[in-house]
Amino acid sequence: MKVAVLGAAGGIGQALSLLLKTQLPAGSELALYDVAPVVPGVAVDLSHIPTDVAVTGHGKDELAEALTGCDIVLIPAGVPRKPGMDRSDLFNINAGIVKNLIEAVADNCPKACIGVITNPVNTTVAIAAEVLKAKGVYDKNKLFGVTTLDVIRSETFVANLKGLKTTEVHVPVIGGHSGTTILPLLSQVEGVSFTDEEIASLTTRIQNAGTEVVEAKAGGGSATLSMGQAAARFCLSLVAAMQGEAVIEYTYVQVDGSDDAAFFAHPVRLGANGVEEILPYGDLSDFEENAKNSMLEGLRGDIKMGVDFVNG
Ligand code: NAI
Repeated sequence: MKVAVLGAAGGIGQALSLLLKTQLPAGSELALYDVAPVVPGVAVDLSHIPTDVAVTGHGKDELAEALTGCDIVLIPAGVPRKPGMDRSDLFNINAGIVKNLIEAVADNCPKACIGVITNPVNTTVAIAAEVLKAKGVYDKNKLFGVTTLDVIRSETFVANLKGLKTTEVHVPVIGGHSGTTILPLLSQVEGVSFTDEEIASLTTRIQNAGTEVVEAKAGGGSATLSMGQAAARFCLSLVAAMQGEAVIEYTYVQVDGSDDAAFFAHPVRLGANGVEEILPYGDLSDFEENAKNSMLEGLRGDIKMGVDFVNG
């Protein structure tokens, strides 16, 4: 198994790479790529940890080398938010970064599963799809927007509120990955009941959780450690699925024949080739149905922006 992290010297990239170095199966390879000159040093640093995962560092002219032979590519390259910014404010810089990196993925490891972390995820995943289509190598089953952070945040907040063990709480989160497009399905949390006030305040907190971190870091960036954990969980689920385990994760994927949007986070059964099956998200409460209906137009707009960015 070869995994590449593109943007590996950043806040997310370093946390994610540390978790993968310690948790990927023995015999795996971890290729770290970044335009920042520190990246070979990050690789040397990690290589001193005694696990049987080989780590290599690749500077700005060595992207092809990092990608060749990859099974999974994770992309946290790009700028994060500062206080007062929306995820869509990142579009001008990050759209071009994702476009260039995906072109290289198409050229060097067109069969790899790709997890896009770079924001705005609602849009960058659509950019990735269009670039891969233009290169003639698009496989909708292998392109994912990583929305696992919304899931782990929801599970933490619900467990804390209800005094439960975090391992016992499972919260479905569907939709997209920004503001109101993030839709936690609290009505489906097994064994837990909420008042209407709790549902309203928890939903808002989950949707604004990223901003909570951005403001607390006061200009120093956005979620990196929790995102590193979330991306590692997603990657390790993909690895387990590729090795034959049945794994379900919530992730932002292309959904055909849906009235929602072309891309939408669903529960997805992962398998050897990425998406094995997109599962239905089940019945929504009236609150969730209304929340979904009022955010769909915005999500579709975010997706269109990505399509238009590539196709002019
Ligand atoms: P950071 O600034 O700490 O790291 C970004 C890294 O990307 C830097 O090392 C930089 O050198 C590198 N980079 C920039 N252009 C590059 C290129 N063309 N090729 C390779 N590397 C390049 O930022 P951080 O905090 O790690 O965030 C990264 C991205 O992840 C941001 O867009 C942020 O909004 C997003 N994010 C996504 C989340 C999600 O749930 N999907 C959650 C939190 C952040």
